[in-house]
Amino acid sequence: MALIEVKDAGKRYERGGRPFWALRHASLSVDAGEFVTLLGRSGSGKSTLLNIVVGLLKPTEGEVLLCSKRLDELTDAQASALRNECAGYVPQGAGVLSNLTVLDNVRLPWYLSERGPEPEGRAQSLLNEVGLGDLSDQMPSALSGGELRRVAIARALMCSPKVIVADEPTSSLDMESAKNVVAIFRRLADSGVGVLMVTHDSASLPLSDRIYDMAEGVLTLRGDAGTDQ
Ligand SMILES: Nc1ncnc2c1ncn2[C@@H]1O[C@H](COP(=O)(O)OP(=O)(O)O)[C@@H](O)[C@H]1O
Ligand SMILES: [Mg+2]
Repeated sequence: MALIEVKDAGKRYERGGRPFWALRHASLSVDAGEFVTLLGRSGSGKSTLLNIVVGLLKPTEGEVLLCSKRLDELTDAQASALRNECAGYVPQGAGVLSNLTVLDNVRLPWYLSERGPEPEGRAQSLLNEVGLGDLSDQMPSALSGGELRRVAIARALMCSPKVIVADEPTSSLDMESAKNVVAIFRRLADSGVGVLMVTHDSASLPLSDRIYDMAEGVLTLRGDAGTDQ
């Protein structure tokens, strides 16, 4: 089942009064159980595409389905509820709330919805999994950039998403932590989760089911990546 479907999507920005296409005719899909990697230079349109996939940005043209729902048919509130229910998003940058502890940052998406009490120790065990078990009571200001990235990853996993959309989750991580994160994503994909990850890190490529390259807003499927259609 396709958890992400992007059909012929384009995004036009205005720059200096001129139209500028950050994304052109992009089509991509991620099925349950698939680990899909997206590579491309800085400024090529990767974050634009990911923001469109999770419904934070509206495409200028084309159609996007997240967990089988057309995003253009949803209000902002409905898109936000869908994101919370079905997707775990790791945005580029730190993106944690500075006035909450590390543990509360991870719990936050759970409490933003009406799910009832948190499953016993879930946030703490996710922090353990990303190697931050000892830092759960700290405030984010006490953490390094790489540690904050891992808080954002644990938070994205909090609600057991059907699909994970991660924008350079391994940036600013040491090699060992980066390997651990990619291994977590691989395991989740093997358990039926769909994963779409942007990375500069070629170490993840052997674990990917499919690889897309992005250049100047144009997305292409790498032909030699095994299971392409
Ligand atoms: N809000 C915006 N207005 C105008 N240009 C933008 C805006 N957001 C991004 N861009 C431009 O779109 C291009 C793609 O950006 P982005 O998707 O962030 O690339 P990447 O994530 O691959 O580094 C860049 O040239 C960037 O400057
Ligand atoms: Mg980016």
